[in-house]
Amino acid sequence: MRTGTTQIHSSSNSSLYTRVSREALIGSATLGVVFVAGYYIGKRRSTFSMDIFKSHSGAKDNPLMQYVLNHSMREHPALKKLRLRTMDDSWNFIMVAAEQSQLMANLARLIKAKKAIEIGVYTGYNTLSIALVLPDDGKMVACDIKDEYPNIGKPFWKEAGVENKIDLRIQPALETLVDLLANGEAETFDFVFIDADKANYDSYYEKSLQLVRKGGIIAIDNVLWSGKVVNPASDDIDTQAIDKLNKKLYRDVRINISMLTVGDGLTLAFKL
Ligand SMILES: C[S@@+](CC[C@H](N)C(=O)[O-])C[C@H]1O[C@@H](n2cnc3c(N)ncnc32)[C@H](O)[C@@H]1O
Ligand SMILES: *[C@@H]1O[C@H](CO)[C@@H](O)[C@H](O)[C@H]1NC(C)=O
Ligand SMILES: *[C@@H]1O[C@H](CO)[C@@H](O)[C@H](O)[C@H]1NC(C)=O
Repeated sequence: MRTGTTQIHSSSNSSLYTRVSREALIGSATLGVVFVAGYYIGKRRSTFSMDIFKSHSGAKDNPLMQYVLNHSMREHPALKKLRLRTMDDSWNFIMVAAEQSQLMANLARLIKAKKAIEIGVYTGYNTLSIALVLPDDGKMVACDIKDEYPNIGKPFWKEAGVENKIDLRIQPALETLVDLLANGEAETFDFVFIDADKANYDSYYEKSLQLVRKGGIIAIDNVLWSGKVVNPASDDIDTQAIDKLNKKLYRDVRINISMLTVGDGLTLAFKL
């Protein structure tokens, strides 16, 4: 789950990260309204618009983050519409950070990904972002336990013309991964994004490692968990699960890794 935290190195800030805590976000019922109330200042520059970036990423109150988004985000029109639609939802803080999603799409394209898996779809922003860089005969297996939120994204997948690439499977993600393995699809996937329930993170990682080919990428979200991994509370199961997996990945000789402070922390595991 995304926590609504934006974490970037900022020299103008006394702390390492600028963050809006998950608790603060959940505690603010009006949050969605505040974001949606951001107004559009459309100024076309080539094909990319520099509007005030409406997201949960905290960019609104952080000029440096706004600068980053202003100078890098190149969203497909359908992707932008889906982001804005998602901002209307009260759970919008769990959406992937847009700049993180763009990075993952660039990586997927770089490795010429054909088959991908999304573990935790929500409204399908990243599902769409990755599907857009897959070839016409590519496949994105999108896993979620309920279809309520993915259904919000479907019209935008269709608008972008990639709905035929997206295979949405509504059941516990672990079952879908087991199904794919049973179907003989081990080592056939190029890219996996793990972004669902934290308690299952290690299982998702192990199954993903079986499903991706050598040179494939497993991207793991929320590895910093709003900074709580630094000192996990004894009763905080989610933070402990993430910290445990972080420690395991650090020593894991089956992969190369990078841990990035984009979004709420993203680990990239490159299968050897
Ligand atoms: C952080 S959101 C995913 C955000 C999404 N990746 C995006 O691009 O915005 C987590 C999602 O995981 C789903 N989820 C939670 N537990 C799950 C499980 N056991 N299996 C599959 N999906 C699950 C939730 O329903 C929710 O939609
Ligand atoms: C980002 O772009 C918006 C819209 O053009 C502009 O109002 C804002 O000043 C820009 N911010 C930065 C830091 O570039
Ligand atoms: C990646 O892993 C290989 C094999 O263990 C190792 O030789 C290489 O140095 C690693 N690369 C990086 C950048 O860590």
